[in-house]
Amino acid sequence: MNFDKYILITGGAGFIGSHLVRKFVNSYKNYFIINIDNLTYASNYEFIIDLESNSNYKFIKGDIRNREIINKIFTDFKIDSIIHLAAESHVDNSIENPLLFVETNILGTINLLEEARLNWDKAASNYLFYGISTDEVYGSLGKEGYFLEDSPYSPKSPYSASKASADHFIRAYGNTYNIPYIISNCSNNFGPNQHHEKLIPLTINNIVKNKKIPVYGDGQAVRDWIFVLDHVDAIDIVFHKGLNGETYNIGSNNERNNLELIRKICSLIDKKTNLKNSENLIQFVDDRPGHDFRYAINSSKIMNQLNWKPKTTFEKALETTVDWYLKKIS
Ligand SMILES: NC(=O)c1ccc[n+]([C@@H]2O[C@H](COP(=O)([O-])OP(=O)(O)OC[C@H]3O[C@@H](n4cnc5c(N)ncnc54)[C@H](O)[C@@H]3O)[C@@H](O)[C@H]2O)c1
Repeated sequence: MNFDKYILITGGAGFIGSHLVRKFVNSYKNYFIINIDNLTYASNYEFIIDLESNSNYKFIKGDIRNREIINKIFTDFKIDSIIHLAAESHVDNSIENPLLFVETNILGTINLLEEARLNWDKAASNYLFYGISTDEVYGSLGKEGYFLEDSPYSPKSPYSASKASADHFIRAYGNTYNIPYIISNCSNNFGPNQHHEKLIPLTINNIVKNKKIPVYGDGQAVRDWIFVLDHVDAIDIVFHKGLNGETYNIGSNNERNNLELIRKICSLIDKKTNLKNSENLIQFVDDRPGHDFRYAINSSKIMNQLNWKPKTTFEKALETTVDWYLKKIS
């Protein structure tokens, strides 16, 4: 059977990737989806195992740091699009082991770009290298202001520096070798399937297990939260309607400081379970070195030009998320 597109999605067993792969496999039966994931500690193959029965889907356990594997995928399938999510994604781990972030997030990205460069006929217009990036590349804001697509890059952690570097390489390959590309930079995602090292699942997990909830510094660091399914919808729209060489910022206008967010989760769990006074588990710990104070995204470009907007309210999405983790833990 011939398909209209052969899309390589990297990191599709991770948090965002698992939702994205599911959406593409189910919504686009005319596309063949190849999902490469190395199944690191952050992944969960269980989240996508049921997709194996689809005739428009193939999972490959493979490492994007390994050029031969990428080369074989390009040889075996006529890949015309890449949606690149595979990455080491946890800031704390990047502080412990920055080299791993260089290898996966920078060299892994370059391996994919190299195969695109060598395999894609420049005359064809149906190719696309789509890099999924973060607002953290822009650095940290003060109390005012928002990140725009042309905000200067000013990464502050090894994680964000590695993502910034990957973005620069994607743009450089686009500019130098005419590889069609798009980058989107999204704010903090939350929702089902996220690894429990991240703030929201960690908080829920610790409350249920009666463990202290660590809060960095005074808990005043602000993040702009987006429900993962809204991000996935945005990726879908950018993939189909975004313009070559463009950047799109994606966010939901849900700024919360960490303490406020954790208190909200405590009160939701107190309401939903027989646990009481979960807030007593909050424990302030030394701030993360180089901790960014505030991220906030201006998404008017994707909203106005591509007609995307988030569908889920923060309150509803947080409740859905808490319910999902409570069920998973029980
Ligand atoms: N989570 C967020 O809030 C957020 C926000 C903006 C952008 N992003 C970006 O979105 C992408 C996905 O983020 P996530 O939160 O789903 O991350 P995640 O850590 O949950 O998933 C990453 C996936 O990549 C895979 N992977 C890691 N190294 C690999 C390698 N060498 N080869 C193949 N696969 C490998 C892992 O096994 C995992 O399944 C990342 O590029 C991240 O920078 C995330």
